[in-house]
Amino acid sequence: MRLDKYACEAIDLTRSEAKKAIKRGAFTINGEVIKNAAFKVPEDADVEYLEQPVELVGTRYIMMHKPLDTLCSTSDTELYQSVLSLMDIEKPERLHIAGRLDADTTGLILITDDGKWSHRVTSPNYECHKLYCVELAEPVPAERQAEMIKQASAGILLKNDDKPTLPAKLVFDSEVSARLQISEGRYHQVKRMFAALGNKVVSLHRAKVGALALDEDLEPCEWRYLTQAEIDLF
Ligand code: URA
Repeated sequence: MRLDKYACEAIDLTRSEAKKAIKRGAFTINGEVIKNAAFKVPEDADVEYLEQPVELVGTRYIMMHKPLDTLCSTSDTELYQSVLSLMDIEKPERLHIAGRLDADTTGLILITDDGKWSHRVTSPNYECHKLYCVELAEPVPAERQAEMIKQASAGILLKNDDKPTLPAKLVFDSEVSARLQISEGRYHQVKRMFAALGNKVVSLHRAKVGALALDEDLEPCEWRYLTQAEIDLF
């Protein structure tokens, strides 16, 4: 990679700031001052800017167990912290969340700085399924469960929407707990689907995105990098 591009990516300089800094002799590569912006930085080179080591931050793919009362946004509010503030990580401002959860939803979120990858996770065109575990306010007797399963599978017209939801798979684990698999990401979709079915979601947890399940070893707030095989699922 050219030194000016490297400088932009490693320390967030604009291209013209990088060029000026290089000309001033602010960069050394393997101990040697380099004033040529087009200089090709070797793979394992030791690069310093103003006598401080700098490194490229590569593209990152992360799963986090989102805790309650946090925001899937890039900044905090008075009420809640952003999930990105919980991370001790370089350049958090470059990251974004691929598919947001509500403040009161817990579970699997994917965080990356790769826009194309997150598009594949979130765009309805890719029909990437999301699996939610739901606790309901009102117990649902068996006969009503069967009706709700049919309604979810046929598609439900949500309040203020003009077309029904795509077919969703609903499974009851008890009268008050269920798993719902959807392939869209409409605003408050799961809560609105259960509201349309005459119930209320009292707790919501995302267990899976596509074929990727939340790592059971991750406690709320904890995160880890995805493996290459996990990245390749999308
Ligand atoms: N559906 C909701 O209602 N909330 C979420 O956080 C995710 C899906």
